[in-house]
Amino acid sequence: MACVSSLSLTLIASIFIVCAPGRSSGHISYSIAEEMEEGTLVGNIAQDLGLSVQQLSARKFHLSPDDGGRYITVGLDNGVLSIRERINRERLCGQAEMCTIPFEIILENPLEVYRGELVIFDVNDNSPAFRESSIPLQISEAISPGVRFRLESAEDPDVGINTVADYAISASEYFSLETRRTEEGIIIAELVLEKSLDRELQTSFQLEFTATDGGIPQRTGTAQILITVLDFNDNPPVFEHDVYRSSIKENIPQGTLVVKVVANDLDDGLNAKLTYSFSGLTSQRVHGVFSLVPDTGEILVEGLLDFEETKGYSLDIQAVDHGSPAITGHSKVLIKIIDVNDNVPEIKVKSSTNYVPENAPPGTLIALIDVTDRDSDKNGQVRCEIPQDVPFMLQTSSSHYKLITSETLDRETMSEYKVLISSWDLGSPSLSTNKTIHIAVTDVNDNAPRFAELSYNVYLLENNTPGTSIFAVTAFDPDLEQNSYVSYSILNNNIQNMPMSTYLSISSMNGTIYALRSFDYEELKSFQIHVQARDAGVPPRSSTATVNVIILDQNDNAPVIVSPSGQSGSSAVVNMPQSVSQGYLVTKILATDDDSGQNARLVYQIMKATDPSLFIIGQTSGEIKTARNILESDSTTQSLLILVKDNGQPNLSSTFSIQVTILQNSTDTVTESGNLVGSPEYPSDLNLYLLIIFSCTSIVFLLIIILLIGVKCKQERNITQEYASCSYSYKRGDMHSMTNRKTTMEDTLRYPGTDQVVRMPGLPQYSVCLSPESAKSDFLFLKPCGPPTS
Ligand SMILES: *[C@@H]1O[C@H](CO)[C@@H](O)[C@H](O)[C@H]1NC(C)=O
Ligand SMILES: *[C@@H]1O[C@H](CO)[C@@H](O)[C@H](O)[C@H]1NC(C)=O
Repeated sequence: MACVSSLSLTLIASIFIVCAPGRSSGHISYSIAEEMEEGTLVGNIAQDLGLSVQQLSARKFHLSPDDGGRYITVGLDNGVLSIRERINRERLCGQAEMCTIPFEIILENPLEVYRGELVIFDVNDNSPAFRESSIPLQISEAISPGVRFRLESAEDPDVGINTVADYAISASEYFSLETRRTEEGIIIAELVLEKSLDRELQTSFQLEFTATDGGIPQRTGTAQILITVLDFNDNPPVFEHDVYRSSIKENIPQGTLVVKVVANDLDDGLNAKLTYSFSGLTSQRVHGVFSLVPDTGEILVEGLLDFEETKGYSLDIQAVDHGSPAITGHSKVLIKIIDVNDNVPEIKVKSSTNYVPENAPPGTLIALIDVTDRDSDKNGQVRCEIPQDVPFMLQTSSSHYKLITSETLDRETMSEYKVLISSWDLGSPSLSTNKTIHIAVTDVNDNAPRFAELSYNVYLLENNTPGTSIFAVTAFDPDLEQNSYVSYSILNNNIQNMPMSTYLSISSMNGTIYALRSFDYEELKSFQIHVQARDAGVPPRSSTATVNVIILDQNDNAPVIVSPSGQSGSSAVVNMPQSVSQGYLVTKILATDDDSGQNARLVYQIMKATDPSLFIIGQTSGEIKTARNILESDSTTQSLLILVKDNGQPNLSSTFSIQVTILQNSTDTVTESGNLVGSPEYPSDLNLYLLIIFSCTSIVFLLIIILLIGVKCKQERNITQEYASCSYSYKRGDMHSMTNRKTTMEDTLRYPGTDQVVRMPGLPQYSVCLSPESAKSDFLFLKPCGPPTS
């Protein structure tokens, strides 16, 4: 091929040979294509100069050894110019437009010098070439269409049309190529961005870049344009969900993962590296409750949740990429808090007085009670009750409970209540709360002071010291304080026409009763007082008790000899006939003792006698009788000393002396007037019986009258209310009544009480029978009226 082409080139070259040889100093020019084979004929110089072959050798025809001597040679014998060494135009002349090899032909005899030149024509023997086979190019996806990127040129050492004539790139919708020629004829290729790039769509392009020359045949050179689309942070992070929803129980432990949010960024590298955070829209209170891990998007429970406080949270979250500028994507997380029965019911007591008077009627409002539970639904529904048996109950009203009394209260039974109120919710498990309300029952003066007994008997020895306490009554008032402060008083009434206050007094403070005078049993045997106890309440309450004061007898009265009455009072003279036989009643000693009982039980005895064998005395009867017949030898005047003593402890006694005169004349009966005892036995006895009969009829008559008037008094008593007046009577044996008998009788008639006789244990009962007929002496003898004494 090369041979053929070179031949053809030779032909063409020969056309260009300028045949202008001059005989002297002529200029000869030949042209030949580069890259001709060694020995290729360029031209026949001798012929062109018109020299014969003989002349050549004769005239020493030769080529000047300068310059082109390396590439060309002349045949010295035939004058033919040929290629000595293959000529590379590009090597020889570079990019020069004209490439010539000058030479000189020298002839001698005569010396002639011919200058010539060999023009080397360019042959398209080089292809355009790029420095590198791939051309890297980075284009940001943000670059707008129309922007040009200058591409490096390809090189072709050929010249003229054989050098680079055009560029092209492989087809692409994104890129086109534009070329332009500079004034110097340099072709500049520019890559034009036709369409916006999207790294997210296509990250790189490979274009074939072709450079072509204008030679025939055309030669080309290619390189690969490797376009990398650079990421531009043009994509926002996008969350997987517009809204994330999560439900968690309010008692979820801290650190628990609630939800993990994920956002995606289509960008690359830092532009796609995301950081999660709460956005500015998220309220501050969320921050302490939830945390968002910036790298992972995990939302964790950080603080305490409370359904009762917040039923749900709305978190605005964002994901920010690390591009510059950064782009933010948003989403929302809705967290619903589920109620757990974590709140105990709460009992609130409102407007509690804590006090209730004991006379409050059932239904009295004590307190309003609110029971609440902060939980919701069943967990928040509460029930309430009083589990104990107390006189209180709960009444439901619209929004609360009323604590009211269910029964009447009595402070004296129960002064304070601790009312347990129990409430529970309907959650499962149920939670309960208890609350105790203290309710004090306040006192009302509903109790009168109460004496331990309705009536007291006070036994008091007569001759007591005035001013000493004799008894104490106590009344107890179960009320409180003022209502229980008891003061005592004696209800006024009269005793023997004297106000009670002169007899007794009572300490209003403590109920101690003092005797104000010394009592005399013989004067007053018993009386009754009414003691009132009264509290200090408003209004006060009071009660009364009866105190029976019973005066006990003391042996303070010595027996008194009543009969026979002697002139001197302590002695008497009695006559008796000498003829009397043994057992003759000489006289009867009658003595009385104002005391009663044993203190009044008298014993008679002869203490001293002129002749102790002559008389005996009846120990209890006091009858002095003869112990034997009177003898002539017996003294006519016998004196006896009689001792009368009572049975008291210690006993009291009186003595009485009797002069017995024994009369010789048996018919003489000496009776002293008024001296009944001194009469002979028979008439004396008769008198006695008469007296008894009369007395008894009188007493019966008296009793009938008393009974009649008693009925009347009872009727009157209802009107006059002179309670005390009818309640006692004077003893008929009373000394007082004897001296004021008429008054006494009138009193008795007017106020006929019961003939009260106080019974004392172990003491026989005595009463002195009154003889109203007796004018001379007040009464005559003592006789048992009740059951006879032994
Ligand atoms: C409240 O009282 C009820 C009944 O007396 C009892 O069952 C419950 O355990 C109590 N609750 C508390 C919290 O003490
Ligand atoms: C009762 O009260 C009086 C004063 O009124 C007092 O003198 C007396 O000591 C008191 N008695 C007692 C037992 O307290």
